[in-house]
Amino acid sequence: MGKKLVVGNWKMNLLREDAKQLSGAMVNMLGACYNECNVVIAPPYTAFEVVRTCIEDSNIELAAQNVFSSTSGAFTGEVSPPMLLDAGCRWVILGHSERRYILGENDEQIRQKLLLSVSSGLKVILCVGETGKQREDAVSDSEDAASRKELLFSPIKAQIESALGSIGEQLIADIVIAYEPVWAIGTGENATSFEIAEIHRCIRELLTRMFPACGNEVKILYGGSVKTVNIAGIMSADEVNGVLVGGESLSAGSFVKIIKSVGG
Ligand code: 13P
Repeated sequence: MGKKLVVGNWKMNLLREDAKQLSGAMVNMLGACYNECNVVIAPPYTAFEVVRTCIEDSNIELAAQNVFSSTSGAFTGEVSPPMLLDAGCRWVILGHSERRYILGENDEQIRQKLLLSVSSGLKVILCVGETGKQREDAVSDSEDAASRKELLFSPIKAQIESALGSIGEQLIADIVIAYEPVWAIGTGENATSFEIAEIHRCIRELLTRMFPACGNEVKILYGGSVKTVNIAGIMSADEVNGVLVGGESLSAGSFVKIIKSVGG
């Protein structure tokens, strides 16, 4: 399985000067040689260069928050996998719920983006998760614990099967799954360790069915209101191999505390 992974998703925040201050402070507080766990940060494209310069002598890696599914051409406003690699980026976050639900991205677009990303040499953090309504429906429409679990997992299963259905087992090592229940994102309401473990176990089972040789090795992160105060509980849940942090990654002090808590 390797080391645990902590990813900071800055979303659409920070001008270059603030991005420089934040990444510089992170490196200082963490120590340039820190490698107890793997750390990735995803600034907006406009801050890539300043952040890349700040982290170049550390073990922190750079991620993008999105990418397009073609290599080049007439796609105004889009950025391709080779462009990300050229900008010093090694990772890309795909399928984030804000892209699915605010920007209208669908499973097929995510599948195409993922396929081109991994075959271009990027590592992918694939976000999946149920909405609050899907969770409520699973509870009210089920008769017993087994059918509740099946109903609850079904939207997540569909997202993973769609995104990874055409991926060869040899590429799966470059993919990380992030379970982010939509109702827990930016709300301060994180899933409980029980809720996290239940879904993470289902994801693990699905991955080992889809990829018998390597499915056990794929990291599964939790995301959704991860904070310094709840990180220990989240990491204690079964099959949690790291976290995807939003708001709290915009504070160097909090993000470094989370990293050190995960790194042990
Ligand atoms: P918050 O940590 O702010 O809830 O955001 C989670 C997230 O969307 C990370 O991708």
